Amino acid sequence: MAYLADHGYPVPHVRAPASGVPGAVRRTDLMMQRLHGPSMLQALLRGTITPEAAGLRLAGLLHRLHSIPARVSAEPTDRVLHLDLHPGNVMLTSQGPVVIDWRNTEEGPPGLDWGMSALVLGQVAADTTAQAAPARAVLTSLLAHLGPAVVLGSADTGCLSQAREKRAADPATSKSEMRLLDDAMELVLELRQLL
Ligand SMILES: Nc1ncnc2c1ncn2[C@@H]1O[C@H](COP(=O)(O)OP(=O)(O)OP(=O)(O)O)[C@@H](O)[C@H]1O
Ligand SMILES: [Mg+2]
Repeated sequence: MAYLADHGYPVPHVRAPASGVPGAVRRTDLMMQRLHGPSMLQALLRGTITPEAAGLRLAGLLHRLHSIPARVSAEPTDRVLHLDLHPGNVMLTSQGPVVIDWRNTEEGPPGLDWGMSALVLGQVAADTTAQAAPARAVLTSLLAHLGPAVVLGSADTGCLSQAREKRAADPATSKSEMRLLDDAMELVLELRQLL
């Protein structure tokens, strides 16, 4: 997060915990700036941002993130990836959108990040809840702003199928989410064809 902040990317500021009181902070504690404002998900539910604008913002945040050189990887096309960039992990502050929840971050090909975002939205869009239609609209807008340089691949090879594997392997993915994963994959490929 500190590396990304140094490159002008909107993340909460982090700092080493003050060590004044022995034992009060653990080495594993992360101190970060408290942000104020709704998440993009809350704004969507309240109707204060349109699904189209949300998709455009998410796409902008992914493009911006992937314009920063990787921190550790020597592979020239690798970038810092968030791998869970969805409306629940963007806070809309008075300073602009800020990306939180970096627990899944890795370095790799940008298409993997786009694939993960698309599948998260696709899983909601493929479900039967009231959020399905807006999620589909966010996904459509996201994919419309993908750009020609990002390669998602097919159902069997490439970044989208790698993203599917990653989500399927996540122990936090429930059984019902697993079932929706295949529907999400189909939907993403279908929408990508239409655009
Ligand atoms: N820097 C921050 N400032 C203010 N609120 C924050 C900050 N970071 C996280 N939050 C709040 O905590 C919530 C959960 O944070 P985060 O997304 O990092 O964890 P999570 O594992 O996804 O948790 P959950 O599954 O409960 O959403 C966010 O939706 C946001 O409301
Ligand atoms: Mg989160």
